[in-house]
Amino acid sequence: MIQLTEVWYWAGENQILSDINIHVKGGELLCIVGPSGAGKSTLLRLIHMEIFPTQGSVIVADYNAQMMTEKQIPFLRRKVGVVFQDFKLLEDRDVFENVAFALWATGVRRKKIKKRVFQVLAEVGLSHKRYTLIPELSGGEQQKVAIARALANEPFVLLADEPTGNLDAESTEEILELLKRINGRGMAILMTTHKEDLVKTLPARMLQIREGKIVG
Ligand SMILES: Nc1ncnc2c1ncn2[C@@H]1O[C@H](COP(=O)(O)OP(=O)(O)O)[C@@H](O)[C@H]1O
Ligand SMILES: [Mg+2]
Repeated sequence: MIQLTEVWYWAGENQILSDINIHVKGGELLCIVGPSGAGKSTLLRLIHMEIFPTQGSVIVADYNAQMMTEKQIPFLRRKVGVVFQDFKLLEDRDVFENVAFALWATGVRRKKIKKRVFQVLAEVGLSHKRYTLIPELSGGEQQKVAIARALANEPFVLLADEPTGNLDAESTEEILELLKRINGRGMAILMTTHKEDLVKTLPARMLQIREGKIVG
């Protein structure tokens, strides 16, 4: 599903990741835990193929980073849902439009878009807020919109980069519950956090990252 083998990443003179070996299996919940600056986001950017390894192999589904063409990138992105700490939503749009945009951008037809948006909003428990503008939502609700958007194109894996990093304790709990539920339905999830306590209670496999290395 996702296979990183002996991956090294340098940004100029700086060694950011060294000798990373990670295998994510179908349906798995994997947490990457490590302090700020350890390389968690860089790791996810490699899987999303926003950046490419300096050395080593990154394989995501049928896509091999070494052989990627410009044309293939959008197809890969459809298959990999991404959620960020700061949500990255369109602030001047409502919930429906934010999720619909992800589908519209990949050429889905209008009638199908509506059906799918309603479906994923129901999945994250936000059907009643579908026409609410983003700034009128709580942080937890905004993250649920971002998760709905990430699921819209039926990806095979969800990458969540510190998804609770900007949330209070209550919303954090809700988002973790939601991710657990989504994973329970068979979706593979790869999430990062700098808070080890947070993921200890999750039915997850945990990898520790420090200074660009997997240490446990
Ligand atoms: N493009 C880049 N150029 C230089 N340094 C970078 C670049 N991207 C990341 N870094 C550095 O790599 C390290 C890991 O960053 P990051 O992956 O964002 O860590 P984390 O997400 O665990 O906080 C940090 O020290 C960061 O400053
Ligand atoms: Mg980060």
